Amino acid sequence: MRVQITTPARPDPHTTPPLFLTVRVLMLPNALLERRLDVVVQQYASRLKIGEQTTVRRLGIATTGGDAPGMNAAVRATVRTAVANGLKIIGFERGYAGILANESRVLDARAVGGIIHLGGTFLKTARADEMKTMEGISKATMVLKQHDLDGLVVIGGNGSMRAACQLHEASSIPIIGIPATIDNDLAGTDTTIGFDTAVNTALDAIDKIRDTATSHERVFVVEVMGRNRGFVALEVGIGAGAETILVPEIEYDIDKICQWLMESHRRGKKSAIVVMAEGAGDSMGVAQIVKDKTGFEVRLTRLGHIQRGGHPTAQSRLLACEMGAASVQFLLDDKIRDMTGIQSGRIVPVDLEYASAAEKPIDKRLHKLAQALAT
Ligand code: F6P
Repeated sequence: MRVQITTPARPDPHTTPPLFLTVRVLMLPNALLERRLDVVVQQYASRLKIGEQTTVRRLGIATTGGDAPGMNAAVRATVRTAVANGLKIIGFERGYAGILANESRVLDARAVGGIIHLGGTFLKTARADEMKTMEGISKATMVLKQHDLDGLVVIGGNGSMRAACQLHEASSIPIIGIPATIDNDLAGTDTTIGFDTAVNTALDAIDKIRDTATSHERVFVVEVMGRNRGFVALEVGIGAGAETILVPEIEYDIDKICQWLMESHRRGKKSAIVVMAEGAGDSMGVAQIVKDKTGFEVRLTRLGHIQRGGHPTAQSRLLACEMGAASVQFLLDDKIRDMTGIQSGRIVPVDLEYASAAEKPIDKRLHKLAQALAT
């Protein structure tokens, strides 16, 4: 039996890079043995690096920006992988705000016990506007240097990844981002930690709204989160069987929407759900226009922060576990400015700047599908 281990060179961020370790096993008797061998070889490779090649000893970790269900699972996976590889890991409280204030504590495997199923983040988080200034970046750099960190793991959304990039440029400290946001608006990754949970939470709420909409024969405009993107609205709208979905990426004509709702009514649909992304305009205004133009009874529900809380779904937890473990592996593999992405089921490194700056396209095909099914 021959085993080959190759660590790929730094990938081109605009192409799909390979997984962090490629193991080719020739003439294996069965798939089970292949999997076991894969694990053993990866562990061996990590240890080898610590002892003989890498200088990675101390890591920092923070959850930043808006919280997302699954952040706790990601912290747990990162901490336990770091500890298992003999590294010390320091947790900063309240995201960048905690880094700026130098509020930290050492985390061990026990410190992250009993949190995998919890929403929110036990490390706490905050919006830190100071990180948009050069003063903030310099201050954070000083704190990270004081801690003598060899790497930092930042778990958060778009703004967090942008700040992480600048922090890396200023400090030269290797930084790995883990995408955790309900908005799913980071490029280079098919999905983000918390997105699936938020979609399911919103769906659960809309199923309940549908009961009352049907009883009263009303139209409900339901506003969902997503900041200036429509990823949440699109998936929620399809899953909820919405009459129409309004997203910022696709222009809509309110008159045509009213006509569509009246036509549906004539076809026997006495109630309707309109799912609207918060970034697609003024939902109160839309509800009022629909009421005035159709003469239907219309109600507006803003789901708001309910979408950010609650137990993470299996998908959000699994993603968090895989990405947390990969973040440490990336640092051991000498990656210095990457985000853990998932592309077609594979965890891959994505250039951090690309992830936060490039615009991830929405799947317009799904919008058409929703329309086609709302008959
Ligand atoms: O980025 C996550 C998100 O929930 C967005 O969907 C929303 O626009 C925003 O955060 C709300 O931010 P905050 O909790 O700071 O009001």
